[in-house]
Amino acid sequence: MKALILVGGFGTRLRPLTLSVPKPLVDFANKPMILHQIEALKSIGVTEVILAISYQPQVMLNFLEEFESRLGIRITCSQETEPLGTAGPLALAKEKILEEPDTPFFVLNSDIICEYPLQDLLHFHIAHGGEASIMVTKVAEPSKYGVAVVDENTHKVMKFVEKPSMFVGNKINAGIYILNPCVLDRIPLQPTSLERQIFPSIVERGLLYAMVYEGFWMDIGQPKDYLTGLRLYLEHLRAKSPSILAVGGNIIGNVLIDETAVIGEGCLIGPDVAVGRGCVVEPGVRLSSCTLMKGVRVRRSAHVSGSIVGWHSTVGESAHVGNMAILGEDVHVRETMFLNGVMVLPHKEINSHFVKPEIVM
Ligand code: GDD
Ligand code: MG
Repeated sequence: MKALILVGGFGTRLRPLTLSVPKPLVDFANKPMILHQIEALKSIGVTEVILAISYQPQVMLNFLEEFESRLGIRITCSQETEPLGTAGPLALAKEKILEEPDTPFFVLNSDIICEYPLQDLLHFHIAHGGEASIMVTKVAEPSKYGVAVVDENTHKVMKFVEKPSMFVGNKINAGIYILNPCVLDRIPLQPTSLERQIFPSIVERGLLYAMVYEGFWMDIGQPKDYLTGLRLYLEHLRAKSPSILAVGGNIIGNVLIDETAVIGEGCLIGPDVAVGRGCVVEPGVRLSSCTLMKGVRVRRSAHVSGSIVGWHSTVGESAHVGNMAILGEDVHVRETMFLNGVMVLPHKEINSHFVKPEIVM
């Protein structure tokens, strides 16, 4: 069975991190977002993952080489010369998908994190006999997603509305689908939206079904949701594989620390923190609800809360980074600086205070 992951899009809502790598390669809980998905696909027997990409292909191609053999799964790239939306890439990859002409295939958005109940979705798909299955989840604020109105008895989707301006329902498209190959016959090779064009047309023919998923789920394509997603993911690890989480008198709640990271004396870390590969956290540091990506150094007595610190950045001694600050790659915050909710572009040196949220170019 094959899977196509929609990798493209500029990931503007995750800038400045996506100025360094495509969104799916942004680390989440210490590994690139997309690896969480590829591992889940591999675990249920998917043999080939097609990455549909329209942006920074070379970075992605380098990544492919490294992980294809490491994961033991075929990873190929389908590269757009112009962004084709969420459905156009399926038309572009048609030939690859149709190498298995009678087998349904998975399609995934690249920025969602959950338990990936892919086997359940496959059983669901086979059982209803329609053309396509989507996974839906209930959220309090459906307006920023695609909403499906689902018949509770038949599981048939009666209506699909992308980003509704008025309330339609609270079951939203979770960004994981199984489609029969015949769906490809109706997707033109041009910018086309699965959510605005293809799903509504399958609904019209009564062949779209939705499986309701009750576990944790988050679209982590925006900073605030990224940190909420981290909290939910770590909570899930606590329930499923608690031995992966950090323990000790200096740890509060759920904390994930890469084994190569160095943590100094007298730090207080947690809850909801991920410390990546090769990070150095010097003595007396306070970290809460934050991510330190690979190679970050947090100097003595600094404080990072509710923020994301990009690869190889430094937070200076006694500095304070908080309130949804996002530091891009290789940003260096000088000692004692106060950064409130700022977004700092890569390769910057910060040597003044920022008391209110702004973009530092
Ligand atoms: N290859 C390719 N080309 N991929 C694209 C393109 C493109 O032109 N445009 C977007 N994508 C990819 C994105 O990288 C992402 O993985 C996926 O398609 C969805 O795009 P987003 O930009 O993240 O959409 P969204 O979050 O606003 O809404 C989508 O996801 C929600 C769930 O998180 C929709 O599918 C909603 O219906 C859904 O509820
Ligand atoms: Mg998204």
